[in-house]
Amino acid sequence: MLIRQFQALRMHAPRQFKPVSSDSICVEIGAGKGKHALLFSSINPEKKLFAIERTREKFDAMSKQHLLEGQKNLETIHADAIPWIVHALYPKQVQQFFILYPNPEPHNPAQRWLNMPFFEFLLSRLAVHGTVTLASNIPEYIEEAEQQLKNVWKLPFEKQKIQSDSARTHFEIKYLERGELCQQLVIRKPEDYQTRFDDFMPLQGKTADLDGTLEHQHEQ
Ligand SMILES: C[S@@+](CC[C@H](N)C(=O)[O-])C[C@H]1O[C@@H](n2cnc3c(N)ncnc32)[C@H](O)[C@@H]1O
Repeated sequence: MLIRQFQALRMHAPRQFKPVSSDSICVEIGAGKGKHALLFSSINPEKKLFAIERTREKFDAMSKQHLLEGQKNLETIHADAIPWIVHALYPKQVQQFFILYPNPEPHNPAQRWLNMPFFEFLLSRLAVHGTVTLASNIPEYIEEAEQQLKNVWKLPFEKQKIQSDSARTHFEIKYLERGELCQQLVIRKPEDYQTRFDDFMPLQGKTADLDGTLEHQHEQ
């Protein structure tokens, strides 16, 4: 099964977009109030983490706490992760992606991360041997993701059960307190893995005209 190609050139730049350097980084998508982002950047001072959250109140909670804790290796981004990644990131730049307890999208399976054409673009940004960690409290979400990895993305992964005393995110704490099974897939990119976006450079605030010419986008 081949998934339709993601239309990267159609992505408008997020508001107040700032380009990033091409150094090796980690990226958290849907970071919520930032519990994992703050913890991860504290215990991995040698790694630079970009934590993206699109909901204003959650983003504000994360940046407020970041201001108090002051991790220099953490950058918080208020944006939709999809256009931000297309505009900001270089091929093979990301060592680790984290997608922890994403919205399950019960009425819209096409919006789940591994069902989206965008996932191919995300894989193009992942370094060789880099990982995507996808956690969920919904066994069917994990099972569907496993099927997609086998049938569509053809990627190796490891399935792990989250320990009952783990407390990486607010949602993880809530689900484990309720006694729910939390699991994660750690997906690894093999050396010879190719995507249709491997040569696609970050748009850095430009958008394409209908004829494909890149123009600087004016902020709305
Ligand atoms: C169920 S919450 C989990 C939050 C956090 N990871 C946790 O475990 O506590 C999912 C989060 O992903 C965010 N989100 C969903 N789609 C997003 C996107 N395309 N870009 C950025 N954030 C997104 C939502 O705003 C929400 O805060």
